[in-house]
Amino acid sequence: MSIELEKENSAHAAIEYVEDGMTIGLGTGSTAKYFVELLAEEVAEGLVVRGVPTSEQTRRLAESLGVPLVDVEQVDRIHLTVDGADEVDQHANLIKGGGAALLREKIIANASDLMVVIADSSKYVEALGKFPLPVEVTPFGYTITAKKVYDALCKASVLKPMIKVRTGPGHKPIVTDGGNFILDCQCGTIPDPAKAAAMLANVPGVVEHGLFIGMARTVIIGAEDGATVFEY
Ligand code: 5RP
Repeated sequence: MSIELEKENSAHAAIEYVEDGMTIGLGTGSTAKYFVELLAEEVAEGLVVRGVPTSEQTRRLAESLGVPLVDVEQVDRIHLTVDGADEVDQHANLIKGGGAALLREKIIANASDLMVVIADSSKYVEALGKFPLPVEVTPFGYTITAKKVYDALCKASVLKPMIKVRTGPGHKPIVTDGGNFILDCQCGTIPDPAKAAAMLANVPGVVEHGLFIGMARTVIIGAEDGATVFEY
């Protein structure tokens, strides 16, 4: 099984949703990278689109490939967002934020007419929670916030969540594009993702969390010989 081929094939299938004149949210991560590369090929052949990147990483990629970008503050409509996911369940609920871009990803997806998720088959799960749930928090008071995040997850029936601040070189907390920290919450299983999302949203210091509930309308799971499209 080639995960890379599956990612590429899911991105290929997502190109079908692109139309001339669209403003398109450009996701972050290795699967979204394939989509941006394919979009760049279409642009080189004459397609007219404008991209709204969901991270500085994707901004740099799109710029290097010649995909025209538009300042997010100048956008009045985003027709389509194509983005990857860390987990997708059968209701198209997602865990995102493995690449620490969840805040911009959620703002852009929420503002889009359509969110299309592209993923390899390993991302399709029966229940969310095996992938540690990323929660973006303010640096101020993050250890206090981490305790409140623990309480919130317990109230959402998550059993003994384990919470770690995501660190990088020198064991320092990584800093997101928004200047925040990420708490990675090992949940095992999240029995009620909507409840967990609501509980987390109520914690002061939580800027955003990686549960995307009811946002994706189309999920494309790549295979070695193509892709399967699920519409919700
Ligand atoms: C970044 C994300 C990514 O979409 C997610 O981590 C999936 O990445 P990849 O396609 O590399 O597996 O949410 O914040």
